[in-house]
Amino acid sequence: MKGFAPLAPIAKRLQGKVAVITGGAAGLGASAARLFARHGAKVVIADIQPEPGRLLSEEINSSQSHGTAAASYVHCDVTVDADVRNAVDAAVSTHGRLDVMLSNAGVMARPDTMAIASTDPDDFRRVFDVNVYGAFLAAKHAARVMMTGQGGGGGAIVFMASNVTATSYGTTPHAYVASKHAVVGLMRNLCVELGGNGIRVNSVSPFAVPTAMSLGFTGMDETAFKEAYYGKTGNLKGVELDAGDVAEAALYLASEDAKYVSGINLLVDGGYSLKSA
Ligand SMILES: NC(=O)c1ccc[n+]([C@@H]2O[C@H](COP(=O)([O-])OP(=O)(O)OC[C@H]3O[C@@H](n4cnc5c(N)ncnc54)[C@H](O)[C@@H]3O)[C@@H](O)[C@H]2O)c1
Repeated sequence: MKGFAPLAPIAKRLQGKVAVITGGAAGLGASAARLFARHGAKVVIADIQPEPGRLLSEEINSSQSHGTAAASYVHCDVTVDADVRNAVDAAVSTHGRLDVMLSNAGVMARPDTMAIASTDPDDFRRVFDVNVYGAFLAAKHAARVMMTGQGGGGGAIVFMASNVTATSYGTTPHAYVASKHAVVGLMRNLCVELGGNGIRVNSVSPFAVPTAMSLGFTGMDETAFKEAYYGKTGNLKGVELDAGDVAEAALYLASEDAKYVSGINLLVDGGYSLKSA
């Protein structure tokens, strides 16, 4: 038998690029941090969880072939203007530029806020603070450096929205649904403003993925969650959505593969939104 030809190395789709990922210490953000680094990006993990953030940076750096530091953690609460400014400035001062902002940090409303009458105003504000105000600050500071050429000109801003921005209503708290619609509205408005600066702005809207957020909200373990969402509720059968799939969608929008794609809300929902329309 003839030997196999060696596999071609994967094309590094973010080679030389610098990315800030908010909420990058866990869940979907952590998966994106690993994938972006594998594709050659320098990644700044901006999160409020120092321990997982540092451990993830170490894991990513130890997997780099020449021992080069591809990832770093910076403490950043996205609801605090100075923190977000600092995270973006840290990316520029360490790596000289910013090419990608993945605004991913997000929180779910409390499970007992499904009905408007029982929705706690403080919880509503908390969700909007992180999901909307935090996304605004991430975009504002990313645009600030991308527009002044510290991004080397141009750039990509990607927001993590949710499939609740499509046509699936009634199963998720009002604060969360409204906040993700606001994120998509911000994305579309920014796409128009920043197009003149060569900055692309898009969002990813995933169906349910088992993470601390979704497992905590549903109160299910991973097995029950998968059975509920992929076995029963989901449209596309025989396949499960994982964090890596969502990271691939963000990678596409962040990379030159999407060089003329701006203003889209990329649904990664296996057609669920059409099924429930
Ligand atoms: N998991 C899902 O099913 C799902 C589906 C659709 C959209 N999303 C969205 O994806 C994003 C990530 O969600 P996840 O499921 O990975 O959640 P997660 O809870 O697993 O991770 C969220 C991360 O964000 C960080 N974070 C929270 N508040 C922050 C703040 N104020 N400042 C900085 N970082 C903060 C957390 O520390 C954590 O590392 C969120 O925007 C969420 O709304 C998730």
